[in-house]
Amino acid sequence: MNIIPRWALTSLTGTAAVLAIGIQFVSTAQAQDKKETAKKVQASIVAAGEALTAGDASKVKEVEKFDLDPIMHSFKPRARGGIGFGEKAGLVPPNEDGLESKMISLSKKPLSAGDAEKFESAITAAAHQILAIGLASDAKWPENKDKAKSKDKWAEYNTLMKDGAKELGAAAKAKDSAKIKASATKVNRSCNECHTAFRD
Ligand code: HEC
Repeated sequence: MNIIPRWALTSLTGTAAVLAIGIQFVSTAQAQDKKETAKKVQASIVAAGEALTAGDASKVKEVEKFDLDPIMHSFKPRARGGIGFGEKAGLVPPNEDGLESKMISLSKKPLSAGDAEKFESAITAAAHQILAIGLASDAKWPENKDKAKSKDKWAEYNTLMKDGAKELGAAAKAKDSAKIKASATKVNRSCNECHTAFRD
């Protein structure tokens, strides 16, 4: 037996459909917004990284204008909306085409002499982009009374990231595979330690 008349069902379905379209529209608009922000953040990080390579830290303040979340998002693989490794896609396989994934792969195995030569400029750029992110993140401590999430702890992990990035820049320039591996390992440690304290 039908309790709800058919006309009521039809109008309910109609309302649900309109709502669903509305929700979809809002989330598409939000995703679009996120993409636009990601583009701007990443352009500012790339520009600040280039300037830092030349010893000029003045462009970091452009990166500081953005929130931590979109700044961190830059570490993702290029295919997932991050900066990527190298100026354009295709320098390395997609699973290594991200600042984070590249740091992980560099920390695992020393590069051959040929690869240290081949990737010198891409590693140099990545190192200075990470340095730009670290410098901008100095001011982004998410305030918290928990001791494990203190301002000092934030500075400690962030310093580890900046130091690792500086060492990586120098190692890339020297084409020193052992030092590239050691400094990428340091950078990775900073990500893990800070995320364990502040994110998990
Ligand atoms: C000083 C602390 C700190 C360091 C160092 C750090 N992170 Fe993060 N990261 C955070 C915090 C806090 C969040 C959560 C941000 C939020 O959601 O607002 C985060 C979020 C992220 C995200 C998620 C972003 C998104 O899309 O939502 C990624 C990816 C990430 N970090 C990668 C890295 C990598 C890779 C490194 C090291 C090279 C690193 N982070 C170093 C604190 C840090």
